[in-house]
Amino acid sequence: MVTAAVSISHIHKHYGSLHALQGIHFDIPKGCFFGLLGPNGAGKSTLINIMAGLVRSTQGSVRIMDHDVRQQWRQARYALGVVPQELAIDPFFTVYEVLRLQSGYFGLGRENKPWIDELLDILNLTDKAHTNLQKLSGGMKRRVLIALALVHKPPVFVLDEPTAGVDVELRKVLWEFTTHLHQKGHTIVLTTHYIEEAERLCEQIAILDEGKLVALDDKAVLLARYPYRLLRLSLLDRNIVLPTSLQDKVHSFLKDELVLRLHREKDHIGSILDALRIANIQFSDLHTEESSLEEVFLSLTHKDKGK
Ligand SMILES: Nc1ncnc2c1ncn2[C@@H]1O[C@H](COP(=O)(O)OP(=O)(O)OP(=O)(O)O)[C@@H](O)[C@H]1O
Ligand SMILES: [Mg+2]
Repeated sequence: MVTAAVSISHIHKHYGSLHALQGIHFDIPKGCFFGLLGPNGAGKSTLINIMAGLVRSTQGSVRIMDHDVRQQWRQARYALGVVPQELAIDPFFTVYEVLRLQSGYFGLGRENKPWIDELLDILNLTDKAHTNLQKLSGGMKRRVLIALALVHKPPVFVLDEPTAGVDVELRKVLWEFTTHLHQKGHTIVLTTHYIEEAERLCEQIAILDEGKLVALDDKAVLLARYPYRLLRLSLLDRNIVLPTSLQDKVHSFLKDELVLRLHREKDHIGSILDALRIANIQFSDLHTEESSLEEVFLSLTHKDKGK
């Protein structure tokens, strides 16, 4: 029995001399809520576009629900719904027309109307159904792209930065809806720059950096593997001279809040507090925080280099 919804095998992608993906190899299990994270230019969209058959890999193969994206492109395409990062959308149709056309592309006729109506309702587009696409705002176009990706009820639903530039209301609707689809058994693949979103929603997380896979694990395992925690101090006076022993532990220092990054085993809070007292650094409050996915992300990607 095939348990992978998406199986990515040794994918390389060259754009001229740029090696955008360098041997990406992993599976996304069926029914998983999967996060694909990475800084700008890591190769996330390239990988998603290869999954969708929109970009041809230089080497390697991808299977969607056990259908090879190249050899069985039609079956693979039917198994996948992708919300693209770019808001490219044909401006000559109304919202309803474009959904009906997309539905037809998947061989679905009038019988799909109740589902289209439901999508319009969930995404709060019902009163825009007969509006021309070019008259919609950016956030509304994004809603249409979400509806388009789901028109054929694909088992695998991929969202490439769906909440970039989206208002709070749509973000909430989108997460409730994807959570609902996930509960119904759909596999969800999400890329986002809002790491707390991935931390809240995703069960497994892959991190890409400069075309390479730098982490892939269950979220809990990934978080536990990271040996740091944060000590947050509200200073009484921000004009301080930090002892040299603490200088390489500064995570951030904004206004009167000093945040130190401490190793769980090597740094003892007692000694840190002693060092602060000797340096006459006074604070009104302190608390510790376990590492967040953002910390893990920064430590594993080049954004943290030089820290
Ligand atoms: N059509 C293309 N032609 C040439 N280079 C490209 C093309 N598409 C992407 N690239 C390059 O490939 C690399 C990966 O780009 P990609 O869009 O996959 O990154 P990403 O992880 O999705 O980034 P972002 O977070 O900014 O969306 C980048 O260096 C990008 O400039
Ligand atoms: Mg991208």
